[in-house]
Amino acid sequence: MKKYLTTPIYYVNDVPHIGHAYCTLATDTLARYWREKLGAENVFFLTGTDENSQKTVEAARKSGKPIPEYLEEIAGNWRTTWDEIGISYDDFIRTTEKRHHETVHKILQKIYDNGDIYRGKYEGHYCDGCETFLKESDLNEKGECPDHLKIPRKISEENYFFKLSKYGDKLLEVYAKNPRLLEPEKRRNEVLSFIKSGLDDISISRESAEMGIPLPWDENHKIYVWFDALINYYTAIDTDEKRDFWNSACHILGKDITRFHNVIWPAMLMSAGLPLPQEEFAHGFFTIDGVKMSKSLGNMVSPLEISREFGNDALRLGLLSSFEFGNDGDFSHENLAKLYDKKMASGLGNLFNRVIVLVNKFLDGQKPAGISTDEIKAEYENFAGFMEEKKLKSAIDYFFQIVDSANELLNEKEPWKLVKTDMDEAKKVFAKLLQKLETLKLMAKILLPETYPRMVDMLGDTEKVGEAQILFARIEKKSNP
Ligand code: MSP
Repeated sequence: MKKYLTTPIYYVNDVPHIGHAYCTLATDTLARYWREKLGAENVFFLTGTDENSQKTVEAARKSGKPIPEYLEEIAGNWRTTWDEIGISYDDFIRTTEKRHHETVHKILQKIYDNGDIYRGKYEGHYCDGCETFLKESDLNEKGECPDHLKIPRKISEENYFFKLSKYGDKLLEVYAKNPRLLEPEKRRNEVLSFIKSGLDDISISRESAEMGIPLPWDENHKIYVWFDALINYYTAIDTDEKRDFWNSACHILGKDITRFHNVIWPAMLMSAGLPLPQEEFAHGFFTIDGVKMSKSLGNMVSPLEISREFGNDALRLGLLSSFEFGNDGDFSHENLAKLYDKKMASGLGNLFNRVIVLVNKFLDGQKPAGISTDEIKAEYENFAGFMEEKKLKSAIDYFFQIVDSANELLNEKEPWKLVKTDMDEAKKVFAKLLQKLETLKLMAKILLPETYPRMVDMLGDTEKVGEAQILFARIEKKSNP
């Protein structure tokens, strides 16, 4: 079995904010889970940048730099941000790369040869923010795009069209057979009712575009950015060694881009004669401290700010445990500080520290008999159940429940006193505690990859524990968020 996980590819006119980081960290956490289950060689995790957009041209112009120089710099910035917050991507794709250009041509030619592309005239409302045509019914009462709050441009052009309308029934059939093609159900229902309302053919080229990949059969037209961007998922595995990853593709995306991923993309793949992704999952959006994130409000938070203050693991846990993956929710600084202080430092950090100090002090570091690998496995399986369902918040909550139960056991049994009255009983308590720490360690490899190596050191080898360490510095030493 294999697993191919992808994030959306991000537009290069923007710098990474925590909305982007949320999606990337969630996918990274899933990739880490699957690597444990299937072996690293059977998992392939892709992220990257979406560069063939008019937004790129405008952003480069604003920066005063030539486009290639601007692109190098910004794509590099995305990549180093992901490196800094501990994203374990296996490949980083840029849609200006030659490999992408080649795969796009190959797939487009197949769609063309299948008779699904024709020349026609189009008039419509184009939103530059969405990079798409919007219907009258999509606009708000002021005639604006509801996401970008701008009146779309009226465009009338002659270009090439994809026969999306031909695929409505076929799409409904594939969703009936494989509902995992879009989860959660709420998102799937939105997409299904959009399909049922009737699909229009879509324009897939621009004669006037400055940026983009030319059509294979007409060099004067550049391919519409979404049509090229979606193909990135195939480009990255389009080699003889990697192509069999395709059958296990799992796209993680935001709820804002399901029409592209769940209507246009599967129709393109069907037309090109390629298998559909195995699954897709659309997550929700969050507000920050109750307020919608937006450039105009100036409340866009960089993941680096949080990571530098609280560390990468708190950033990951804070984002993924605020609300269940798939729902909308809120991310608050106050809750993050609480999570760090109460659950991470006082809960998890103290637990590890106290147990290892006590075992070193009273048992000379020797691990007592009675640590049950079966019980460790059983608890890990419960955690794995949440991960398989992409219930990331539940998985994290379960992890902290084990922390709490171990702390309760420690406080209730007071093994530091028991060692003086009943050494056998004290050893049983230590065995149980070490068993819980081992269970937490396994889950931490996925949920707290930055802290994990120190947990491994503290738990030592099969015979003896290691030295106690501080897992998380106290919050008082940090500035207020
Ligand atoms: N380039 C396209 C995607 C092409 S994929 C073939 C794009 N890029 S984007 O940079 O604008 O947004 C990418 C994704 O970032 C969104 O789908 C969503 O997953 C995530 N988010 C952006 N802002 C977000 C929030 N405020 N909250 C949660 N996720 C957000 O669309």
